[in-house]
Amino acid sequence: MTMANENKDNPTIEKKGFNAWLNKRLPIDEFVNSQLIGYFAPKNFNFWYFFGALALLVFVIQILSGIFLTMNYKPGELTAFDSVEYIMREIEWGWLIRYMHSTGASFFFIVIYMHMFRALMYGSYRGPRELLWIIGMLLYLGLMAEAFMGYVLPWGNMSYWGAQVIVNLFGTIPVIGGGLVEWIRGDYGIADATLNRFFALHVIAVPFALAFLILLHIVALRQTGSNNPDGIEIKANLNNRGNPLDGIPFHPYYTVKDLFGVGIFLLFFCGVIFFVPTFGGLFLEKPNFEPANPLSTPEHIAPVWYFTPFYAMLRAVPDQQMGALLMTLAIVAFFFLPWLDRSPVKSMRYKGWISRTFLGFFVVSFIALGYFGMMPADGLYVILARIFTTLYFAYFILMPWYTRVEKTKPLPERVSYDA
Ligand code: HEM
Repeated sequence: MTMANENKDNPTIEKKGFNAWLNKRLPIDEFVNSQLIGYFAPKNFNFWYFFGALALLVFVIQILSGIFLTMNYKPGELTAFDSVEYIMREIEWGWLIRYMHSTGASFFFIVIYMHMFRALMYGSYRGPRELLWIIGMLLYLGLMAEAFMGYVLPWGNMSYWGAQVIVNLFGTIPVIGGGLVEWIRGDYGIADATLNRFFALHVIAVPFALAFLILLHIVALRQTGSNNPDGIEIKANLNNRGNPLDGIPFHPYYTVKDLFGVGIFLLFFCGVIFFVPTFGGLFLEKPNFEPANPLSTPEHIAPVWYFTPFYAMLRAVPDQQMGALLMTLAIVAFFFLPWLDRSPVKSMRYKGWISRTFLGFFVVSFIALGYFGMMPADGLYVILARIFTTLYFAYFILMPWYTRVEKTKPLPERVSYDA
């Protein structure tokens, strides 16, 4: 461990005063030197590499705005809706805090979907990063649980009916389903007990789990090092000091680059908060401005946009049990990607046209399903949802075949980089 008066990297600089006192007790400089300055990341990161840092930022925004919301929110079926209205109308800046949190939820998913798409493009899920990917998937599941329970808290009519639909899905599990649904609700219907436990899970349990998983995610990333748009390992080419030839110190280069990303991101984020906070009913749905009413079902029950691709799959199948299974498989499939992809190369830059086409189909299907999930489940929408569900699964199921048979481009020795 570095002593306060001897700096390992630069012995001529002697720490003095408070800095010396602090570092003798807490190895801050050593941490920054070894983990940020001493961490060499590939020099060819592009636009897609902003989203990990942005996901961290949104997590912090959600925790901070959530703390202030909790100061005035009152869980309970008689108080929840009114307390949210009180925050919006009476609490100073309450509207801002609430819109930060509701917009933050949607932006979290935008950022995470971009982050995941990057991994699909550059093969970041492939070895040696399988565990990093699996931890990411656990984070995604955790985020889904967090967003779903948060949506129930304002106790609007869509909160109530959305919870009804989603919790009932657990009833499709053979044998234990019925008992499980009752156990989750804590009552014979979605009720006060359900709301209270969702509050506890939303503000304490799930955020803790997410924070722990984020830590594991970053430690796993630090262990393997980042992938990059070329999908080649920079650790294969080291200089005489043992550092990757194609790497640059994470700090200051990428901290500054990420800060630029944060600036652009905040422009969009604030634009939505201040000018279109409900985003035309996509980020905050209209029926949720009415209090929960067990006697009146909203015209179309639909979850928030980030769940609608899976919701469309659920409704594309006439049998609810099969639909729920399909929806579950649509998420579980991601966990197996590291072993489904048999290509000799990682990045789409060097894969063949079949991989590119299937990834393209997958993205189009995901967006199309997202749209169908918001529409009524009848006529053409259901037929199209079936076609796109098939394309979605084809990406995964056929991957071991198309990644092996297609012709790939030769990999370069070093990363491609235009200064
Ligand atoms: C709260 C959620 C998450 C946070 C805060 C987070 C944070 C990060 C950060 C800071 C990085 C390094 C910077 C970057 O490569 O962009 C990273 C890399 C990565 N993350 Fe996440 N992440 C989250 C969720 C996910 C999810 C849901 C997945 C996928 C299922 C995922 C998969 C990956 C992969 C594969 C890498 C390495 C990418 C590469 O090196 O090319 N992450 N993450």
